Amino acid sequence: MGEQKVPRHVAVIMDGNGRWAKKAGLNRIFGHKAGTRAVKDTVEICGEIGIKYLTLYAFSTENWSRPSDEVSSLMSLLVEQIIKETPNLDKNNVALKAIGDLSSFPENVADKLNQAIRFTSKNTGLTLTLALSYSSRWEIMEAVRKIAKKAAAGEIKPEDIGEKFLEQYLTTFGMPDPELIIRTSGEQRLSNFLLWQAAYSEFYFTPVLWPDFRKKDFLDAIEEYRNRERRFGKTSEQIGQKS
Ligand code: FPP
Repeated sequence: MGEQKVPRHVAVIMDGNGRWAKKAGLNRIFGHKAGTRAVKDTVEICGEIGIKYLTLYAFSTENWSRPSDEVSSLMSLLVEQIIKETPNLDKNNVALKAIGDLSSFPENVADKLNQAIRFTSKNTGLTLTLALSYSSRWEIMEAVRKIAKKAAAGEIKPEDIGEKFLEQYLTTFGMPDPELIIRTSGEQRLSNFLLWQAAYSEFYFTPVLWPDFRKKDFLDAIEEYRNRERRFGKTSEQIGQKS
């Protein structure tokens, strides 16, 4: 990637596992299993090109309403992957984090996740954040609730509430906003993901189904992002277009 600028924070909506499995004549869970290879590739390429934050939408609040066998298979897969990959993440200086309502997760899943988070917490390379039982409206609602409690207790005044103040109550506090959000599988929606944080994000949509997503696909997204960045500071005349 040379000297060129990379975004600091890339967020990914991993979509299309079910369709991938269907095309292959397999059960949906095989799509999720195949998706773990794409997770690995994406984490690796982020480390290789010096991206500091990668956030993956792994399980939305709405995903709880999927058939219970799919939900429990996803939970098992998550625990299995965490146990298997934590030493590798650690070796590569990756710090694991999670955002979302972890209290809604089965205890063993939350325990394993918290252990992995603690184990990698000193790492200073990539911060890999898994959005689990996450939804933006839930996050914003929780923030408002906490702020309202403080106001009711007389600890803050309504005038104290500005953007920076509110951000302290979001699950992403301390992270820069994502400059780039990628969604796979041809869908072009944000689906309740990082609504506040995406205020100025660039969006990149690709028809590639998540299990087929490879380093090259990630680099294509980065390239597109850079082309958009290059156009930014210039007038249309400067880049040879009519306005
Ligand atoms: C969306 O595809 C994907 C998910 C709901 C789960 C993502 C999970 C993984 C890739 C598994 C492992 C994750 C980690 C972080 C180790 P979909 O099922 O909505 O696909 P469809 O729209 O084609 O049905």
